[in-house]
Amino acid sequence: MSALRRFWASTIGKKVVMAVTGLLLVLFLIGHMLGNLQMFVGADAMNRYAALIKSTGELLWVARAGLLAAAVLHIVSAVQLTMINRAARPADYAKREPAVSTIASRTMRVGGVVLAAFIVFHIGHFTVGTFHPAFSHTGVYGNVILGFRSPWVVLFYVIAMAVLGLHLFHGAWSGVRTLGLAKPSPDPLHRKVALWIAIAVWAGFTAIPVAVFLEILR
Ligand code: HEM
Repeated sequence: MSALRRFWASTIGKKVVMAVTGLLLVLFLIGHMLGNLQMFVGADAMNRYAALIKSTGELLWVARAGLLAAAVLHIVSAVQLTMINRAARPADYAKREPAVSTIASRTMRVGGVVLAAFIVFHIGHFTVGTFHPAFSHTGVYGNVILGFRSPWVVLFYVIAMAVLGLHLFHGAWSGVRTLGLAKPSPDPLHRKVALWIAIAVWAGFTAIPVAVFLEILR
């Protein structure tokens, strides 16, 4: 068995893959959220920003392939770790009283499933246009405004972003711990940093559908 296969076959190997890919996805999310804030600068700024990204040509496809590979590895390692966990304890505890877990840590699996469904909808909504009422390949600002005309879509995004915030908070700080990048502490700094990143990403993303709903953006 090659070293790489042995690494992937081990539980810690899968945890490291989940942590590294998760942290890469957090970097993408920070960049995507900051880019989306161009919506508040204006239609020209947003459309110019989107055109600039598309003008990178092959580089964009390399980034897309990297993003897709990270997402697939993240999901596959999470599913396999869940299966290993379940196999180790076929019957659940008779009574489960969480002592140190948080709502963020307890909702990682269900949150992951919600986010996977969100991403499929989101790409069909704003990148491909399948689920969009009037999609334009060049008018990204207009796509976002028209895409959030439906209160149901706004509600779905608001719920998905809350789930994302929780997933990101627990995932980011526990990922750093898995990789052994922080010293053990009862109140570690990376936990506070993860909390602030999660709050910023949640607020930045949520602001857009809410601003369209309130007609602050139109
Ligand atoms: C309210 C929140 C969000 C808004 C308004 C938004 C907006 C957009 C828009 C307008 C595009 C298309 C850009 C273009 O074609 O130039 C896009 C693409 C994309 N978004 Fe989002 N996004 C949001 C949240 C998210 C979240 C939370 C994720 C991941 C969990 C995400 C992942 C993606 C991906 C993977 C693409 C496709 C990128 C590509 O292939 O070029 N987005 N988003």
